[in-house]
Amino acid sequence: MGLDINRVRNDFPILNQVVHKKPLAYFDNAATTQKPLKVIEIMDRIYMETNSNIHRGVHYLSDLTTTQFEEARKTVRKFINARYDHEIIFTSGTTAGINQVAFCFGEKYVKPGDEIIISEIEHHSNIVPWQMLCERKDAKLCVIPINDLGELVLDEYERLFSSRTRIVAVTHVANSIGTINPVKEMITTAHRYGVPVLVDGAQAVQHTGVDVRDLDADFYVFSGHKMYGPTGIGVLYGKEEILDELPPWQTGGEMVDQVSFEKTTFNKLPFKFEAGTPNYIGGIGLAAAAEYLEETGLDNIKAYEKDLLEYGSKKLSEIEGLHLFGEAGNKISIFSFILDNIHPYDAGMIIDKYGIAVRTGNHCAQPFMERFGIRGTVRASLVFYNTREEIDRLCEAVEKVNQMFN
Ligand code: ALA
Repeated sequence: MGLDINRVRNDFPILNQVVHKKPLAYFDNAATTQKPLKVIEIMDRIYMETNSNIHRGVHYLSDLTTTQFEEARKTVRKFINARYDHEIIFTSGTTAGINQVAFCFGEKYVKPGDEIIISEIEHHSNIVPWQMLCERKDAKLCVIPINDLGELVLDEYERLFSSRTRIVAVTHVANSIGTINPVKEMITTAHRYGVPVLVDGAQAVQHTGVDVRDLDADFYVFSGHKMYGPTGIGVLYGKEEILDELPPWQTGGEMVDQVSFEKTTFNKLPFKFEAGTPNYIGGIGLAAAAEYLEETGLDNIKAYEKDLLEYGSKKLSEIEGLHLFGEAGNKISIFSFILDNIHPYDAGMIIDKYGIAVRTGNHCAQPFMERFGIRGTVRASLVFYNTREEIDRLCEAVEKVNQMFN
């Protein structure tokens, strides 16, 4: 059937605007995506008509909102093909999910001298929580290197395992350059050594989709706002048998069973990990985003974004003095580049004057930048509401930047 780009663009009202007297071309989707009307409207409607705190109320509105929130959990469960609804823990986002696992899993299973494997291509949020855990526990961080194309070196990965390896934490898709990592294969390897794997799916679910059971991921985390949903909401998926064994992280209301001054017992999954009032409207919005992606069709999205990737790679690489980073065989539509003699920040500022939103800097991936001996890049991250015409405009703007500086 294919993707109807006119319909898609109408679904995202924010795209239809003028910035610096030019039509907006929004290429900062890896930082956050825009929201379709379906998401905006459902959240608006709840605030206007039915809002009430969930789980503890006996009244009509509370009951209604509780049902909507628990339906949202089911929708997310289906979206990632988890086995049980209670394996879906709502968090505030990917960062919170990783910190939660680093804390809960780390407290229980990591001892002095143990080892944790991450990679050189991680976002800081999948580095620092593990590094802090290693500091707390006197454990060691082991790092999978990447090659010049920005792909993980899998032979080296396998060599990092030892009897002290406790967990692997790896990104599904790299936010800095878009590499799609072979996480299924990596999980199979880790499981051969009896080691569980956390996958950071923040940049993946909205592009590749995910089937956590097919991957056999032990933990999979992602954010609502990067998959066309609201900010401040995300998901931590964990296998039931692993989550059951972990201690709670944040404590307080909702996550308890019985509380006395002598002792507290904890609620069952998923509530054990959702202390306090959850962001229930965010959860309902996130589920609406998942439905939107399914209605649009992940296959349509993938095919459309692949075309943007091929078109953009060719056009950008024809520009003199432009160097693209991340030319993995398997990647999403992210273009990360530098221009000869021009600071990325200067380039980004000028590109903005043409109505084009790109991001500049290290993209919270300083070790990656270090690996390539650079301080940062200009990053244009494209999704299925972008167009070839917008890529043409980006290329024209980059040419103008080149003329201005050289
Ligand atoms: N993690 C977001 C990015 O990659 C902010 O830009």
